[in-house]
Amino acid sequence: MTDVASQGPTSGDEREVLTDRQGHPIHDNQNQRTIGARGPATLENYHFLEKISHFDRERIPERVVHARGFVAYGEFEATGKWGDEPIATYTRAKLFAEPGKKTDLAIRFSTVIGGRDSSEATRDPRGFAVKFYTEDGNWDLVGNNLAVFFIRDAVKFPDVIHSLKPDPVTFKQEPARIFDFMSQTPESMHMLVNLFSPRGIPADYRHMQGFGVNTYRWVNAQGESHLVKYHWIPRQGVKSLTEQDAANIQAGNLGHASEDLYTAIERGEYPQWDLYVQLMSDEDHPELDFDPLDDTKVWPENDFEPKLVGTMTLNRNVADHHNENEQIAMGTGVLVDGLEFSDDKMLVGRTFSYSDTQRYRVGPNYLQLPVNSAKNATVRTNQRGGQMSYGTDLAPGQNPHVNYEPSITGGLREAQYPTEDEVGPEVRGRLTRKRIPLTQDYKQAGQRYQLMEQWEKDDLVANLVANISQAVRDVQERMVWHFLLCDDELGLRVGEGLGISPDDVRQLPPLQSQTLSEEDQQRLTNLG
Ligand code: HEM
Repeated sequence: MTDVASQGPTSGDEREVLTDRQGHPIHDNQNQRTIGARGPATLENYHFLEKISHFDRERIPERVVHARGFVAYGEFEATGKWGDEPIATYTRAKLFAEPGKKTDLAIRFSTVIGGRDSSEATRDPRGFAVKFYTEDGNWDLVGNNLAVFFIRDAVKFPDVIHSLKPDPVTFKQEPARIFDFMSQTPESMHMLVNLFSPRGIPADYRHMQGFGVNTYRWVNAQGESHLVKYHWIPRQGVKSLTEQDAANIQAGNLGHASEDLYTAIERGEYPQWDLYVQLMSDEDHPELDFDPLDDTKVWPENDFEPKLVGTMTLNRNVADHHNENEQIAMGTGVLVDGLEFSDDKMLVGRTFSYSDTQRYRVGPNYLQLPVNSAKNATVRTNQRGGQMSYGTDLAPGQNPHVNYEPSITGGLREAQYPTEDEVGPEVRGRLTRKRIPLTQDYKQAGQRYQLMEQWEKDDLVANLVANISQAVRDVQERMVWHFLLCDDELGLRVGEGLGISPDDVRQLPPLQSQTLSEEDQQRLTNLG
């Protein structure tokens, strides 16, 4: 007899006994219940059925983007100031208010395109999503490591992601498909110049920046608002990988970035990021040559100086990957008093999309899970029921029969509005479907190239040529045309790599989907 179970419990064994989820002790975890030692099996075998059917459901759908990621916990310590000024001048959000004020947080770093077990050394934006558990409820700041994005209107998100995801037939990521889409999407040039530079493969999660990317608003106690952009700067410094470094790493380890973060925290080497904020008055800015609500643009730091507002320290790892990493749910709609949306056309789409996918991916009661619940605020809703509902959030003394509002028989009441009215400028317009008037798709992409060190420029050009060369000739020509409009040298060098001269592309008309600025028109005339 070699079966462990058949040896029976040994006396003096102090370990806890295995049970099923009903609390029944498991006497034999090695053998199904069968008729005779060689079967057949019986169906009235609760332990076996519970075990196997729970296993059958162990996975939830992976995120449609950012499927591979890693969570850690920590705290945010506020300076109480924006640079030298009291922060209350700009926002009444309590988490920023006092110098030294600490707020618990969870962060999830991620890659975007690959599946849940894919490589963490790919050329891909990295997610940088922070959930602050504030006393006023949760605030999610869902950002990326690159300061800009491919598109400026949420209606194009499924298209840009489909182009970057594997081919629907061969299931292989194809540069030809990516550049087919990007060549028709001029606003993507700024992102491409970043993504195909060394910054496109961060060395790991500890050595990368984070950006809110979209424009938000801050509101003070008087109801005055400012536009705001967020920047996380790592105290560890910024490090990136070349294609070759990345290839070497992923040959032996697909999860080096998660491992690096996890082991650093286990060693007590707690990574830190400073949070800097750029502010701009919340009004029209005719003096700017870009639209401040356009997430394909950065705000020039000379004109809009980023100023320190606090520091994040990560000091604790997750206890369970599935519960805390797979089931954490963040979204751009999750804001606290003093922090607001802007009219950025990506934000509204994102705000719908995140909680919509989470109700499908995790379930309608995803906000009751410990990692998602507003643990430092009081939660009192009239929400009841739904799959996996987990208790009610009744206040002490609340009439349990009243799950509606208004009521005069012991239900919940509305909070007082912090200001007299909603905040922000008055907006007038007629229903339309138009791109923003000031698109300026090339200038900042060109400036980004000009600011690179020589080795970064060389790496960018080599990466672009290697990828664009896999696209059809018309796509290659259009990409060279775009890059010539960004910066002469960049266009000439990519063109040279592809065997395409300015004369080959001079006659191309602008795309129907673009508005060229006067400056761009001028450059087009002198192309090359
Ligand atoms: C995740 C949609 C743009 C950063 C996701 C998810 C969706 C989504 C559906 C999966 C969420 C989940 O399953 O929990 C969109 C849409 C966008 C957009 C519709 C544009 C309209 C952006 C931009 C950024 C960004 C511009 C960067 C600022 C992230 C991050 C995650 C994510 C970091 C992962 C969150 C986590 O770790 O759980 N996005 N996204 N997304 N998105 Fe976006």
